[in-house]
Amino acid sequence: MPKNILVTGGAGFIGSNFVRYLLVANPDVRIVNYDSLTYAGSLENLKDLPDPERHIFVEGDINDQGKVEGLLQEYKIDALVHFAAESHVDRSILGPEAFIQTNIIGTFRLLEAVRRVYIEEKLLPLEGFRFHHISTDEVFGELGTDDPPFTEETPYAPNSPYAASKASSDHLVRAYHHTYGLPILITNCTNNYGPYQYPEKLIPLTISNALAGKRLPVYGQGKQMRDWLYVSDHCSAIWEALQRGKVGETYAVGGDTQVVNLEIVETLCEILDELKPRASGESYAELITFVKDRPGHDWRYDIDSSKIKSKLGWQAKETLHSGLMKTVQWYLDNAQWIEAINSEGEYKGWIKENYG
Ligand code: NAD
Ligand code: DAU
Repeated sequence: MPKNILVTGGAGFIGSNFVRYLLVANPDVRIVNYDSLTYAGSLENLKDLPDPERHIFVEGDINDQGKVEGLLQEYKIDALVHFAAESHVDRSILGPEAFIQTNIIGTFRLLEAVRRVYIEEKLLPLEGFRFHHISTDEVFGELGTDDPPFTEETPYAPNSPYAASKASSDHLVRAYHHTYGLPILITNCTNNYGPYQYPEKLIPLTISNALAGKRLPVYGQGKQMRDWLYVSDHCSAIWEALQRGKVGETYAVGGDTQVVNLEIVETLCEILDELKPRASGESYAELITFVKDRPGHDWRYDIDSSKIKSKLGWQAKETLHSGLMKTVQWYLDNAQWIEAINSEGEYKGWIKENYG
């Protein structure tokens, strides 16, 4: 059972949910949260943590190998959970360079920090240490409508610059296990949703635009399919894998809730109609607008989570409907959070220009 955990990217969406989850799930754990606070990271996401004295926030870049080495030693880290990344596909189309720098080179720097401290210089014991890499199902490419879901055995075929950068980082992590004996784990997960998700991704964008009376952009005809997992269910899968996963192995994690994009947007509109009806009496669905498709848009992602279910006993708790209800309610209760982070002129301009 790890006690001193270094979380990278813990001020972002999934990372901050994981910090919250872990502080409750394990009263013995101390978390060092290392994050460079890009546009996607915010200390707002870490307000009102349960048991905050067991959480230490350190601002910094994963590319700063020396700083990471210092933290590993200072806090006697026995598990590193690596969330930090550029995570948004549209942004990787706009400018792939940051994705290469953080997702590939940054991961390499982290691996080098760990190799020096635990393997080369033996400054801390390698025994019991874990490097847990958080990855995505997008590394497997896209599925056709009737293809079986991705498994841990599916060959890599990433399509977007984001997916290619994550695939590359997965390969590096695996290579450090194979070559240097670094005790690693990788989890590849489907689309997450829930509290604290930056409103550029489909679900929080739809909710925040709807509440502001703005159009709800659906790419192409909205027929692409995604599998959705409520974020705390992803956190429990990571924690299970970190405690009991087999070193060197990969676990695919999904929600068994595959739907087409248009249906997700329509469902969100129905929930909003119920929880916060519009003054005009019209449905939020009136705001749905079909826009230009994403270049190279992957048709379908779906995950077969049999391995993590059967080997580690993991099970998602939320259904798609219960998770969406909780999510909409959270955004309704946290309108100020959206206002505080929802003002990025340059990127919004690019989206408008490219998606019409
Ligand atoms: P996010 O964009 O919300 O957060 C990323 C965090 O990383 C931010 O806090 C940011 O400040 C930090 N960060 C970025 N570059 C950094 C750097 N160079 N050094 C230190 N910190 C840096 O991302 P998310 O959606 O929470 O995703 C977290 C991880 O989970 C990513 O690795 C992503 O690939 C993976 N993942 C995401 C999803 C999803 O649906 N969101 C699904 C599967 C896997
Ligand atoms: O599958 C896991 C991946 O899921 C993660 O690795 C990524 O970090 C995460 O961003 C997510 O990628 P997607 O591209 O699937 O997520 P996004 O929310 O951007 O889009 C979901 C689907 O909705 C996708 O088919 C594109 C579509 N879409 C998206 C936006 C932002 C729209 O139709 N309209 C929109 O405005």
